[in-house]
Amino acid sequence: MTAYEYETHEYDVVVVGAGGAGLRATLGMAEQGLRTACVTKVFPTRSHTVAAQGGIAASLSNMGPDNWQWHMYDTVKGSDWLGDTDAMEYLAREAPKAVYELEHYGVPFSRTEEGKIYQRPFGGHTTEFGEGPPVQRTCAAADRTGHAILHTLYGQSLKNNAEFFIEYFALDLIITDGRCTGIVAWKLDDGTIHVFNAKMVVLATGGYGRAFFSATSAHTCTGDGNGMVARAGLALQDMEFVQFHPTGIYGSGCLITEGARGEGGYLTNSEGERFMERYAPTYKDLASRDVVSRCMTIEIREGRGVGPNKDHIHLHLNHLPKETLDLRLPGISESARIFAGVDLQKEPIPVIPTVHYNMGGIPTNYFGEVLNPTKDNPDAIFPGLMAVGEAGCASVHGANRLGSNSLIDLVVFGRAAAIRAGEIVNPKERNEPVNKAEVDKALDRFDAVRHADGSLPTAELRMEMQTTMQADAAVFRTDKTLAEGVVKMTAIAAKMDDLKVTDRSMVWNSDLMETLELGNLMPNALATIVAAEARKESRGAHAHEDYPDRDDVNWRVHSLAHVDGNKVTLTTRPVHMDPLTKQEEGGIDLKKIAPKARVY
Ligand code: FUM
Repeated sequence: MTAYEYETHEYDVVVVGAGGAGLRATLGMAEQGLRTACVTKVFPTRSHTVAAQGGIAASLSNMGPDNWQWHMYDTVKGSDWLGDTDAMEYLAREAPKAVYELEHYGVPFSRTEEGKIYQRPFGGHTTEFGEGPPVQRTCAAADRTGHAILHTLYGQSLKNNAEFFIEYFALDLIITDGRCTGIVAWKLDDGTIHVFNAKMVVLATGGYGRAFFSATSAHTCTGDGNGMVARAGLALQDMEFVQFHPTGIYGSGCLITEGARGEGGYLTNSEGERFMERYAPTYKDLASRDVVSRCMTIEIREGRGVGPNKDHIHLHLNHLPKETLDLRLPGISESARIFAGVDLQKEPIPVIPTVHYNMGGIPTNYFGEVLNPTKDNPDAIFPGLMAVGEAGCASVHGANRLGSNSLIDLVVFGRAAAIRAGEIVNPKERNEPVNKAEVDKALDRFDAVRHADGSLPTAELRMEMQTTMQADAAVFRTDKTLAEGVVKMTAIAAKMDDLKVTDRSMVWNSDLMETLELGNLMPNALATIVAAEARKESRGAHAHEDYPDRDDVNWRVHSLAHVDGNKVTLTTRPVHMDPLTKQEEGGIDLKKIAPKARVY
């Protein structure tokens, strides 16, 4: 029985996380008059979406011909045919609407001469179903698009009376008779405990980039929602697919947007060669990012890396006009100066593929409803729970996400979750009574972590996990590295029981908070390496050197991982092959998106 007292709050909807997806969901819920709370561990405008630079994909056709079918085709091909067809259609079709809504909410997009939203090229985005030149589809607010979106959505959410609980750390889900009925949270600045009792909980907690040593992700990206879901006995999907962004700054991991290559930047090796011309003759530096990351890694492995240790690559922007850099890429000019000591008008930026995005996450349908697949029904819904943004897996990115499809995923599916909640959440109905036994269970776990008295400091175990994941779940994988990774990560996860928390206070206790975050990172890391070891093919970001080809017969399936302590049980779930709209009713020609070799 817990010794903690708690305050109870009642809402129709509780959104956990205040990044782009969390805020778009919050705003959509509040606009419909649902009593909505947004619980977030950081101040909303400091959520990791703030770091999104290059832009948001939508076929607006402002810079030349484009349409949703081309966007859908590029997304299907980018996913290496692992995405769910219905969800990918929904994304591509709804994208323009979602972007115009953002414009009307007040996002300060960059503009063309005629005053339209400015769009730039991004990797893997093409015309004519991959037969035409690159398309300018990525809508940008200079190179600070995420920042602009986040500030606008936060302001609009406040205007619509959403209530924010800022610097509250969500501990666990409350599950009552097979449905989610709320969350338990710890308020960081005064140490009080809060129970949020709700008809619908929306997890918008972002990715788990910090399971790796070097990532573009903020230190807050600890997969908290995925951790809560795993502890509730629900599955995580497609966790083996981890995206490496080609251009993290060498040393710091700080992101240099793909928009830099979109504006004309290019990569060279130690021989000064623009090597992407050799690997991807048509789209060159604007091939899909898994492809570019692999080519950079091959160049380094074959001795053509730059620098004294020949271990990175050069990104050139020094040939671009100063006005382009000032107008379109002001943020990365500053990042290059601060994090690489480089004046990008004069010198190339040292870059290296860096962990950037998790394609996998909590399985959902395209309305964000969490799935609890059974043998008889792979699309069974777990009531009362939604997941959106990087935490969710709808799945639109499949085995590899295209650049700028992340921001559009956040707003399309944040909005979709609100649309669905408007249909199924009845504000007139009473909430379920608080499930005290579940609250006690969450608080007992919290108390056990708070009083952990083993021998290992949290930072030491976290480092062990991060370096193992970096080495063994890398850009290229082999049977050997993956098998070693599984053994090492299983042992590392077992050491969670030997952690020592030295600070027992309830107020501003970063030792406790980081230990709870490590408890969330660990199931993510474990599921990733175990699912990667099991997948005997190469697909998208999962480049397996012992199985270099994609195997659609055996492996065009989603993997599901149930994590219990340091044990992972894997099953599969079919990929949705059917589109939302039949071709004769205006849908895409299915022949266009049939699987084929993925070349750029
Ligand atoms: O390169 C970038 O600006 C990142 C965009 C994205 O991951 O979508």
